[in-house]
Amino acid sequence: MDLTTRYLGLTLSNPLILGASPLGDDLDDVRRAEDSGAAGIVMHSLFEEQITMGCRPPLSDHEESFAEAVYLRPHRSEFALDPDQYLEQIRRIKDAVRIPLIASLNGVTNAGWLKYARLMDQAGADALELNVYRVATNPDESAESAERTTLEMLTAVKAQTRLPVAVKLSPFYTSLANFAQRLASAHADGLVLFNRFYQPDIDLEALEVSHRLELSSSSELPLRLRWLAILSAQLDLTYGVTGGVHSAADAIKAVMAGADGVQLVSEILKHGLYRFAEIRNDLATWLERHGYHSLAQARRSLNLSHCPDPSVYERANYLRVLASRRSTTAPPR
Ligand SMILES: Cc1cc2nc3c(=O)[nH]c(=O)nc-3n(C[C@H](O)[C@H](O)[C@H](O)COP(=O)(O)O)c2cc1C
Repeated sequence: MDLTTRYLGLTLSNPLILGASPLGDDLDDVRRAEDSGAAGIVMHSLFEEQITMGCRPPLSDHEESFAEAVYLRPHRSEFALDPDQYLEQIRRIKDAVRIPLIASLNGVTNAGWLKYARLMDQAGADALELNVYRVATNPDESAESAERTTLEMLTAVKAQTRLPVAVKLSPFYTSLANFAQRLASAHADGLVLFNRFYQPDIDLEALEVSHRLELSSSSELPLRLRWLAILSAQLDLTYGVTGGVHSAADAIKAVMAGADGVQLVSEILKHGLYRFAEIRNDLATWLERHGYHSLAQARRSLNLSHCPDPSVYERANYLRVLASRRSTTAPPR
C-alpha cells in the first residue's frame, strides 16, 4: 500500500508524525520513533520567553514588590533546552535519523526572537512550525489587531528562512476561514489544526487554580475534521492535524477530511512509540480492505467541495442534528 504523502514540501513515507512534545528531547526516543514508523518529527517549541529572557532588563523595584510578577515570569530551569541547546538538538537529531525534522517556534509578538527561524534553518531543520499560543484577554484589542500580529510574525519568519512554514492555530478565531486565507496570502505553507489550549480548572479543596495538562481523546477530533474539510476545500495549503488522533480510524478520517500530515502526541505518551507501527499497519490494512490503492486516493475524498457555500451545509446539518435529537431524547422521569 502506497502511504506516501507530501507535507510542507517534504515527501513522507506515511502521514504519521510525532507531534511537538518532550519526546524529541531524547535521541533514543527519536530513533525509536523512526524505527516504529513515524515519518517525521516535530520538536517541542522554542519559546519566545526563553529567547527574550536573556535580553530583558531586571525587574524594577516596583515590579519586585509584586510576588506575582516574579512568580509568573518563567524560570530558565522550567525549559528543557536553552536556545543554544535547542539548536544543538536539531543537529543531533538530523545526525541520528533520516526522517524529516520540523522545528517549532512558540510566541506571541513580532520581535527579534523570530531570528531563531534562521538559526533553526542553519542547524538543519527541514521545516518550521510557528505555534501561536495566545489567549486574547484584552477588551481593547480587536480581532483584526490580534490577527495582524500573527500575520506580521509569519512575515518576519518567512523573511528569515526559505524553509516551509506551517502555522499551528487554535480554533478560537471569529472568522477562521478568512484568517486562514490571510495566512495563505502571507505565504504560510501550511496550517496545523488545532493547538490544544491548556484549560485551567479550580481545585475546590485548595481553593486555587489547578494546573493540569490532560491528554486528549478521540472526542476532540471532529472539530478538526470539520475545519480540515472546510479549509482544504477552499485554500490550497498543506494541512496537518493535531489533537485527538489515537487510532488508524482517526488518521483515516483526518486524511479524508483533508490532512496531509497526521500528528500524534497523547496516544504515544499514553501507550508508547510502538503505536506508530500498529497505527501505520492498521491504516494500510483498512485502505486495502476498502479498495484503495494509495493514501492519496483517500485524501479529501470526503470534503465539502460539492457544496458551493460550506456555511449553508453547516447550518443545515446543525438544524438536522437538533431535530433528530428532539425526537429521540426524553429526560428521565
Ligand atoms: C507534554 C506535552 C508537551 C507539548 N509541548 C508542545 C510544544 O512545545 N509545542 C507545541 O506546539 N505543542 C506542544 N504540545 C501540543 C502537542 O504537540 C499537540 O498539539 C497536542 O497534544 C494535541 O495532540 P494530541 O491529541 O495528539 O495530544 C505538547 C503536548 C504535550 C502533551
